[in-house]
Amino acid sequence: MEPVDDAKSADPRHLVGTSNSLAEGGRIHAKIEGRYVSVLRLNGNLHAIDSICFHAGGPLGIGEIEDLNGKNCIICPWHHYKIDIETGEKYYQAGVWENGKMKPGAWQSNGVKQRVHSTIEENGNIYVTFSKGTLVDSDGYAYNVPCGERMKSAGDTNQARSQQAVGGDGRMPSGYVLRNNAAAAAQGYNVSGLYK
Ligand code: FES
Repeated sequence: MEPVDDAKSADPRHLVGTSNSLAEGGRIHAKIEGRYVSVLRLNGNLHAIDSICFHAGGPLGIGEIEDLNGKNCIICPWHHYKIDIETGEKYYQAGVWENGKMKPGAWQSNGVKQRVHSTIEENGNIYVTFSKGTLVDSDGYAYNVPCGERMKSAGDTNQARSQQAVGGDGRMPSGYVLRNNAAAAAQGYNVSGLYK
């Protein structure tokens, strides 16, 4: 599917594609006013989430989807963090000791780490409206052009995911990828609490 770039609208909604361009299980990777957002159609529902992973700038938007106790999570190809596509929460599985052995415990939430946005379908078109408000960790990477363009050009295939895995494309996942807090601030996001 061709990504839609720089969709513009006077209205707070941003056109990202047509209904026909987003089949069940498909995705649109859009760049909206500089922000990279992925729209997914899953089980008949639309979801919009920041494309670039809050953790270290990985290509979250192309990650596989996994059902985690009834929650649809997108799994980042870099370090396999699981992010709820409905809420943006990140889940982790704490270890528990049982009979002298460490075993995986229940899945727990680290809180909302990835910003999710509103998305609707109207008259054959799909729109995204940015969510604002409380600072979310993904705000710091949301406008990162090298991360976003690499992800958009990768494609939503298992081969692309493995090529985008850490080291698979010859790039290091962190330390070399800089957040762009200034770009997020210019769009009205409060980035003062983001780590540098
Ligand atoms: S889990 Fe996404 S960059 Fe690390």
